[in-house]
Amino acid sequence: MNSNDLLINVAELKKSYKVTDENRLEVLKGINLEIYKGEIAAIVGKSGAGKSTLLHILGTLDKPDSGTVSFENENIFEKKDKQLSEFRSRSIGFIFQFHHLLPEFTALENVMISSMISGISDKNKAEEALEEVGLKDRKNHKPSELSGGEAQRVAIARALINSPKLVLADEPTGNLDSENADSVIDLIFRLREKFGQTFVIVTHNEEFAGRCDRIIKLNDGIVVN
Ligand SMILES: Nc1ncnc2c1ncn2[C@@H]1O[C@H](COP(=O)(O)OP(=O)(O)OP(=O)(O)O)[C@@H](O)[C@H]1O
Ligand SMILES: [Mg+2]
Repeated sequence: MNSNDLLINVAELKKSYKVTDENRLEVLKGINLEIYKGEIAAIVGKSGAGKSTLLHILGTLDKPDSGTVSFENENIFEKKDKQLSEFRSRSIGFIFQFHHLLPEFTALENVMISSMISGISDKNKAEEALEEVGLKDRKNHKPSELSGGEAQRVAIARALINSPKLVLADEPTGNLDSENADSVIDLIFRLREKFGQTFVIVTHNEEFAGRCDRIIKLNDGIVVN
């Protein structure tokens, strides 16, 4: 692949957490990786390996201690907080293990609300997004009136409504039975096919990881092969 295909470059990324006044827990000890446009990359590794920590940093929800993350050749942590949050709402979609839908709002409202922050959400687009994930006829259901798999598909519609270049997913099938997990996995591949989005997905689901274009394995704070 040539450098035009590169979406993200991570170099010597380090992150530690404060444990006591004297002690810090070093979680990421010098991560180097590249993510290419349009790929679906899986991040795997044992519990506590730092997968969510890495994903949060890629999503600019957290900052590294040192090292760089370049997005389309731009060092994102050089941005000021306001620019960084604009960048985040424009360029990155998030899917979490638990759907985090707002219980008081319908599926359609949930898809619209979170994208209003970026000022470009509209109802037609939200309806299209729900149609895309096969839930147009559930648009007026509240989260408690949806199955787990349906709720996660609403969360995917919400993550995709602003057409972010990068979608980050932290164990998107972790809370689903195998049938619902399969439909979420199929959906992610179909969306990539249709919109060419780039996905970085933390997963413990071996079948899912095996279907991804590439597996990035974390062990002891670094990427191993
Ligand atoms: N805010 C925090 N403060 C202190 N330690 C933290 C914090 N967040 C995470 N950790 C620790 O950092 C390590 C990595 O956590 P992380 O959540 O990134 O792991 P993970 O690979 O996502 O694990 P899992 O597969 O269980 O989700 C863990 O040992 C965790 O206890
Ligand atoms: Mg995690």
